[in-house]
Amino acid sequence: MFTTPVQGTNLVVAATTYIDEFSKPATAIVGTMNQMQQRYSARYNKRFTLFLLIVVVDLVVLLAVIYLYSSSIVRPIRHLSEVADRISMGDLEAAVDMKGKGEVAVLAESVERMRTSVKTASSGSRKGEKRPPLRARSLWIILEHASTRTAGLCDNGPVCVCLKFPFEEGSMDLRDFISLCEKEGQLKRVEAEVDWDLELSHVSKLVEEKGGPALLFENVKGYQSPVFTGAFATTQRLGLMLGKSTDLSMIQLTRTWMNSAVKELIPAQERKDGPIFENILDGDKVDVFAFPSPRFYELDGGRFFGTTVFMVMKDPETGETNLGTYRMQVLDGKTVGVQILKGKRGDRILQKYRKQGRKMPACAIIGGDPLLLLAGAAMVAGASEYDVVGSLRGAPVEIVRGQLTGLPIPASAEIVLEGEIDPENLREEGPFGEFIGYYTDELIKPIPKPALDVRRIYHRNNPILWETSAGRPVTDVHMLLSFTQSAMLWTELTRMQIPGITSVYMPPEAAGRFWAIVSVQQMYPGHAEQVGAAVIATNTGSYCCKGVIIVDDDIAADDLPRVWWALGTRFNPARGTEIIQRGRSTPLDPALEPGGDKLITSRIIMNATIPYEWKVKPTEIKLSEDVLAKVKARWADYGIDDP
Ligand SMILES: Cc1cc2nc3c(=O)[nH]c(=O)nc-3n(C[C@H](O)[C@H](O)[C@H](O)COP(=O)(O)O)c2cc1C
Repeated sequence: MFTTPVQGTNLVVAATTYIDEFSKPATAIVGTMNQMQQRYSARYNKRFTLFLLIVVVDLVVLLAVIYLYSSSIVRPIRHLSEVADRISMGDLEAAVDMKGKGEVAVLAESVERMRTSVKTASSGSRKGEKRPPLRARSLWIILEHASTRTAGLCDNGPVCVCLKFPFEEGSMDLRDFISLCEKEGQLKRVEAEVDWDLELSHVSKLVEEKGGPALLFENVKGYQSPVFTGAFATTQRLGLMLGKSTDLSMIQLTRTWMNSAVKELIPAQERKDGPIFENILDGDKVDVFAFPSPRFYELDGGRFFGTTVFMVMKDPETGETNLGTYRMQVLDGKTVGVQILKGKRGDRILQKYRKQGRKMPACAIIGGDPLLLLAGAAMVAGASEYDVVGSLRGAPVEIVRGQLTGLPIPASAEIVLEGEIDPENLREEGPFGEFIGYYTDELIKPIPKPALDVRRIYHRNNPILWETSAGRPVTDVHMLLSFTQSAMLWTELTRMQIPGITSVYMPPEAAGRFWAIVSVQQMYPGHAEQVGAAVIATNTGSYCCKGVIIVDDDIAADDLPRVWWALGTRFNPARGTEIIQRGRSTPLDPALEPGGDKLITSRIIMNATIPYEWKVKPTEIKLSEDVLAKVKARWADYGIDDP
């Protein structure tokens, strides 16, 4: 896998050596053939020897071609070509954000050069040119500009160096992610015995609130298998999950998602078998208590198997596969309650089964590619989240079929509960210390929920139960929501083809989905107002969101001190405020009157931009570029540490 970073020149030399190595086997074999010919010609007539020689040489050439094709030159070239095709201007912008926009043009040029050279090489190289090192160098230039700290030599040779980061391809499962976290110092193994009853969640919550490492509890009281928490509590770990470097900001990460999400979907790939089938439990052996599900908070209604789980189901009318992330409480050894809130796509599908008088086949899934959980938490319409994750990864998600339901499940999931939900049979579930930091009304009056009748359990050996600690912000669930909601909102705004949007952010401090900030480069009067109205018209912004702040493009949406500056200075409440009386909400919102169904909220749009049409705009105070350059040049003279 990856070792230390290498310099561009080393890479070129290494790549050249690598290519030269391929000629050796063929030369050696031809030499041996010559010796063979001399020996045999003494005993057999010349014609037969010549015939034999031609046959053997042909065979050797054929073998050499197969060898070169499959293992060395041709495949990497093709692979490079595919990778080069996928690098977009957006990827580059995300990569160089921290280095200044001026470099985008330079990078775009080198990508273009690389594309051409890779394509030429794939369709036959020009005479006398050593193309692979050139290509390697082009990619390396991009990697260097992308400030990738994790790039390094991998086992397969220098060409692969360029493919690993940040344009990582292929699948990642939960175990790969945990290993990656450990390698990057983002994971702590807890070997001490920890009780699943409150203790585990409290340890995890304290660490998450301080932005500490993810935790792998290896010794949960009464259990052999581990619990993993805090996966996404930092942007570093979100970066690792996306196969990117650890120093990208939330905006750079969401831009990555947005750029991939608007590309073509890559359908999941079906396999006959996978690690998830290492253990199959039926009948009496079905027992959800076999896994160390924690109880999180004192007022919780029980133990929660699923806080970081997604459910797969099929629309009975369209046949589409849907993934939804809903919490799940263990009701008994063979039943988990599932909180599918009203109006969600999952709920709409369940209601279709109810109308048809049928039970809904469903699988609750923990593990597989961590991106699946995120996709399950995003409102994806008209497509399978498996295919969305395929396009984000640049490679298909590998699935197997549930043996009872035929539903697609990730081949490398950790635990799968397979069964069905009877839409007519609602059970009491909860309460649960929700991500908003409050209990909902169900603390006063239980709310019946759908329940999954578990018929079969699949799990890997030593299955990892993945959990989040929810509760008050900011923990990993808020980071996860901030990431997915910002990315989805940005994607939707991009699809609406509104020009000038430079960044989008839904802050985790506001529980990741209740406020949105959008930065816009204004191009016409009313542009900022258009963006504000568009945000609450999207699927993402129309659910829960209470407020939208619009700022000019000199302020990044996640630069909260500057956003406050805009609100304090550029914002004029009478001019810049719109109140919308009625919009879709969630029963989880504690600001809505207790006891109601809480489905409607008001919203505010705050336009904190300087009006486009103003002829005279406020003059901002700026440091002089010339003086700054001089000051920086003689900084050491002042005897002050670097600011
Ligand atoms: C960790 C986490 C837990 C969630 N829990 C629930 C839940 O219990 N119920 C719910 O309706 N939505 C929950 N959501 C939000 C849904 O996943 C989201 O609305 C998603 O779009 C639902 O999928 P669907 O639109 O296919 O129904 C949760 C999201 C996250 C990130």
